[in-house]
Amino acid sequence: MSTVLVTGGAGFIGSHTCVELLASGHVVVVVDNLVNSSARAIAAVEAVSGRGVTFVHGDVADRSTLDGLFARHGFGAVIHFAALKAIGESVAEPLRYYGNNLGSVVTLLEAMQDAGCRNLVFSSSATVYGNPTNAPIDETVRLEAVNPYGRTKLMGEEIMRDLCAADQRWKIVLLRYFNPVGAHPSGELGEDPRGIPNNLMPYLMQVAVGRREKLPVFGGDYPTRDGTAIRDYIHVVDLAQGHVAALGVLDELASGCHAFNLGTGTGSTVLELVRAAEEVIGRPVPFEIVERRAGDAVAVWADPTRANTALRWRATRDLRDMCRDHWAWQSTHPYGFGDAPEGS
Ligand code: NAD
Ligand code: UD1
Repeated sequence: MSTVLVTGGAGFIGSHTCVELLASGHVVVVVDNLVNSSARAIAAVEAVSGRGVTFVHGDVADRSTLDGLFARHGFGAVIHFAALKAIGESVAEPLRYYGNNLGSVVTLLEAMQDAGCRNLVFSSSATVYGNPTNAPIDETVRLEAVNPYGRTKLMGEEIMRDLCAADQRWKIVLLRYFNPVGAHPSGELGEDPRGIPNNLMPYLMQVAVGRREKLPVFGGDYPTRDGTAIRDYIHVVDLAQGHVAALGVLDELASGCHAFNLGTGTGSTVLELVRAAEEVIGRPVPFEIVERRAGDAVAVWADPTRANTALRWRATRDLRDMCRDHWAWQSTHPYGFGDAPEGS
């Protein structure tokens, strides 16, 4: 058990990971600039864990913030979640994405090097496989990025591979997430997207609570069992536990960079997810099949064998668990950590 620096720890995946880190006895220090999150998430982490978190409101691309943290704490490892993650926004504002996501990677690695902490877990993404055609996807599939956000993840990995090649003392775990959904089962912690959600589950749940009229289902004529696209949805608590598992086996791993898929290994169609949600909610969720979304792959799911073996980790929660826990959060917090807008 060690003290862990969690960048982006107020965000969706980071906050759930803080809960699991605390539950396994780690001391947690979070740095987050709250550009896409709320300090209320940290309070919720503490409430559901019954333990405290040291929170620093700051930017990971700011070297002096990091130096202050490394001077005050002896970190055993860093988990780097902090990043901007909206694909459309990354196409419209590429410099903001490269500056934030890669600026923070380089600054963090420099600060870690100077402080002598060379154990890192990095939030990568299945986006580094581009739009793959042959599911299941294992870690040997050729890497390719198809938008600026994806390039920041791929370049982040490349920077880390170069660093590990240059200095054998580094141990870096690259976790490639598939489609994280769900929420903490307490209903007190969950995803809180700003504006119109880009992703399926938050959009569906906002329809279910009456914030939006109906779910657009992007494409009903794909060559799949019901015509809708297939993804590997993974419960955010399983994902969070994957990070704790990665820290737990760091000592056993050889030095260098290690990539692992975090997914369930099972693909679900959009309509299967809608049906699972309707079952736990107890009523229909209005949807309409519309045009395909440009750039979408047909069917993507993980081969998580490498993570199952090397991390001794496995996703255990199914689609129903994901929908039940996401609904517990959304139905009790229809506006996430924010307040309902006036007149609503
Ligand atoms: P999120 O936006 O909820 O969390 C990211 C957090 O980082 C936010 O709290 C934000 O305020 C913070 N942040 C961003 N830039 C920062 C900076 N320069 N300094 C300090 N804090 C900063 O997103 P998430 O869904 O929790 O994603 C976490 C990580 O996982 C990201 O790196 C993301 O790219 C990656 N990822 C997410 C998904 C997904 O579907 N959610 C899938 C694959 C990979
Ligand atoms: C998206 C990103 C991917 C990122 C992942 C993280 C794109 C092209 N890809 O993947 O890089 O790693 O999020 O979670 O954005 N859908 C609907 N209606 C909606 C929203 C989505 O039908 O309102 C469908 C999509 O067409 C897709 C599935 O639901 O088939 C999942 O979509 P989404 O949640 O956006 O995730 P991905 O597209 O897999």
